[in-house]
Amino acid sequence: MSDQAEALRQLATSQASADMTAVPRSARFITVCSGKGGVGKSNFTLNFALALQQQGKKVLIFDADLGMANIDVLMGVSSRYNVYHVLRQEKSLAEVIHHGPYGLPFIAGGSGIADMFAMTDKDVSRFIQQMEALASDLDYILFDTGAGLSRENINFITAADQCLVVTTPEPTSVTDAYALIKVVHNNHPEVPFTLMINRAGDAQEAQETSSKIILTAKRFLQLDISLLGYVRDDQSVSRSVKRQVPFLVGFPKSEASRDIERLAANYADVPFKDSGTVHKGVKGFVQRFLKRK
Ligand SMILES: Nc1ncnc2c1ncn2[C@@H]1O[C@H](COP(=O)(O)OP(=O)(O)OP(=O)(O)O)[C@@H](O)[C@H]1O
Ligand SMILES: [Mg+2]
Repeated sequence: MSDQAEALRQLATSQASADMTAVPRSARFITVCSGKGGVGKSNFTLNFALALQQQGKKVLIFDADLGMANIDVLMGVSSRYNVYHVLRQEKSLAEVIHHGPYGLPFIAGGSGIADMFAMTDKDVSRFIQQMEALASDLDYILFDTGAGLSRENINFITAADQCLVVTTPEPTSVTDAYALIKVVHNNHPEVPFTLMINRAGDAQEAQETSSKIILTAKRFLQLDISLLGYVRDDQSVSRSVKRQVPFLVGFPKSEASRDIERLAANYADVPFKDSGTVHKGVKGFVQRFLKRK
């Protein structure tokens, strides 16, 4: 009996101290991008989000690829509503959140994002309020963008807290990744970059690839790029795409899954202040995205 009372007292005390130390949080906005298309951004975003979730983080994917949004296809989940319905005020932001494997929340892509630029200031504030409510309960929002430098992509990149550039070791992908970094940096020197090498043959190839980009950026742009790591080239990835199941779910023991888990563990461990991210908050994100003051 007294043991039970003691246990309850301890629980109450620990709960009280947890409440007192709880600070309102707001998600970090991370844009996943690449110079060249087809380098593995969407698969990376999806599986990285699941791996971060395994680390106890709260993550949401926002499919920001306007032309060929396909995060839902990769999960085999259909999505009826997207951000377009929010902008048209047919749905609230919370109502367009769908759920993938392990309950992973995502907002499907749609061509509606282009409509955001025509929003009135009142619509923008309403949208900011809804985003704030969403972000207050999350650690990360990952934006999966289309390749290259469309106007929307540049806006996502410059609005977010961190730009995560994905490249493969192929020279064409490497030069395009560098070109993207260079153009963004020259116009928006405040954007922090992190690099991820996908489809690496081995650790050495990943290292050589990342060094090329990091050293060139340092030398010619005086820009420091942090390195997230690499994911190996692994047939499980295309197999899981065909099955419409994330590889972390369909092939949890594969090389790609182990690599992603390693990246997520390291990433989740690093405090935001040391991860090269700047935190602009939701308002900063939306205003920068829409280029409003
Ligand atoms: N680590 C990997 N190992 C082997 N194959 C991979 C790997 N990552 C991606 N792929 C292959 O690359 C294909 C394209 O991946 P994905 O759709 O994620 O690229 P993307 O960068 O999002 O493309 P887009 O630019 O069209 O949006 C996958 O269907 C898969 O076959
Ligand atoms: Mg994609």
